[in-house]
Amino acid sequence: MMGILRPPILLIHSPCHMEPPLTLAEATLHDLDRIMDMEAKGFAPGNTELREVYELRIRTFPQGSLIAYSGSEYVGCIFSEIWKESFLPVAEHFALGHDIFERHDPVFGTELYITSMTISPAFRGKGLGSQLFLGCINRVAAAYPQLTSALLLVNETWVQARAIYEGAEFREVVRFKNFFSPDGMTHEDGIVMRCPIQRKSHPTWL
Ligand SMILES: CC(C)(COP(=O)(O)OP(=O)(O)OC[C@H]1O[C@@H](n2cnc3c(N)ncnc32)[C@H](O)[C@@H]1OP(=O)(O)O)[C@@H](O)C(=O)NCCC(=O)NCCS
Repeated sequence: MMGILRPPILLIHSPCHMEPPLTLAEATLHDLDRIMDMEAKGFAPGNTELREVYELRIRTFPQGSLIAYSGSEYVGCIFSEIWKESFLPVAEHFALGHDIFERHDPVFGTELYITSMTISPAFRGKGLGSQLFLGCINRVAAAYPQLTSALLLVNETWVQARAIYEGAEFREVVRFKNFFSPDGMTHEDGIVMRCPIQRKSHPTWL
């Protein structure tokens, strides 16, 4: 899939056995078709977000709505919000289709919430998901120095995503029984994971 070549904003360095480094750029409304295509290819029907949800994310927090390129190829996207940290998050905070305005607080929030991440199927398994994930945290944390932790919700069955998060030292803080329903009949647990953002002692990020 060919994408529009944009000026690089951030170059993420990757180990030599992986694909070339990714370039991240803020998503615009022109990217919505490709984002929705990735959404359909990345998630079961019961777990997909509406176009309006992504549109609002891009309009509200473009700094945390990122498109990834490898050369001129569009390879993935990642979205985030900034929340006030709650010691034990509750399931309602993570509801599918939740409005970014419910919790996004880029002034007083201290926790980066990664809402979703997708790598195009043709580019998976090459280390790009891990690059995209760490690149997003690195970039948003640099722009918002008050951030002290990162948070996400993952489906128990998404083993590739869980491998990335565990590799980045995210740890489970709470589990929501039967949170996901990919087909309206079966149910799968959601796992909330969190990791501190350590600015001086964690050379991988900052
Ligand atoms: C999750 C996703 C972004 C990963 O992208 P990717 O480019 O393939 O990821 P990477 O190649 O960087 O890493 C994949 C990891 O999964 C691991 N993995 C692959 N198959 C696995 C399996 N069957 N069981 C356990 N781990 C597995 C790999 O070893 C790798 O872990 P490592 O970095 O510790 O070696 C991609 O699979 C995707 O878009 N999936 C659909 C949407 C989704 O699940 N998004 C995440 C939740 S929002």
